[in-house]
Amino acid sequence: MKKQTRAGSSWLQTARLTLVTLSSNHIGALNALDADPAVMHYITDGAPRPPGHNEAAVPRIVHYAREHPGLGLWPTYLTETGEFMGWFILKHLLDTGEVEVGFRIKKKFWNQGFSTEAGRALIHHGFETLGLERIIAIVRPDNLASQAVIIKIGLAFEDKRVFHGMQCLYFGLDRSDFQRS
Ligand SMILES: CC(C)(COP(=O)(O)OP(=O)(O)OC[C@H]1O[C@@H](n2cnc3c(N)ncnc32)[C@H](O)[C@@H]1OP(=O)(O)O)[C@@H](O)C(=O)NCCC(=O)NCCS
Repeated sequence: MKKQTRAGSSWLQTARLTLVTLSSNHIGALNALDADPAVMHYITDGAPRPPGHNEAAVPRIVHYAREHPGLGLWPTYLTETGEFMGWFILKHLLDTGEVEVGFRIKKKFWNQGFSTEAGRALIHHGFETLGLERIIAIVRPDNLASQAVIIKIGLAFEDKRVFHGMQCLYFGLDRSDFQRS
């Protein structure tokens, strides 16, 4: 049975993290995360999101997650303290229909292995629970921390591709390679 926490319904636990089911209650935490130019450096070049961005996005993703059980965006908390630390995604790319893994966490939590920990759990969930055939990730060439995580969780560089007008690196992991590793 799902455990109810102050932050919402616990969806997945890793050694140190609790990923919870997204709801409109998380919009404030997502806005605060996006308000840090360091966090947004490789996403918007540090520019703030237009007002109302998460207010519009969250209901869309909640709807998406209902339509695609096991996929979505999960606000994530330190299990020990209950503090919001960021979010993780496993969801379809609108452009290609492929399933993408992604992460965004508060700067104070960087370089402590949290994204690797949650990312590995999501890769395992995607292949073992959902039976996905392939998981991909897209990253700016200068976002070296993100690339390090993507490689640590098992994806390999495949290609350079343009996404939303930006030159990006494209990483992938096929189910057969996940099972061999
Ligand atoms: C990218 C991000 C999610 C990484 O999360 P994290 O929890 O710090 O990741 P981890 O601690 O699991 O691993 C970070 C790795 O990056 C490496 N790293 C960090 N900064 C680096 C840099 N400037 N150059 C090269 N490697 C770097 C770390 O050494 C570590 O690798 P290692 O364990 O092999 O030493 C986090 O920095 C973040 O939220 N950034 C802002 C949002 C973002 O860019 N999201 C990704 C968009 S594609």
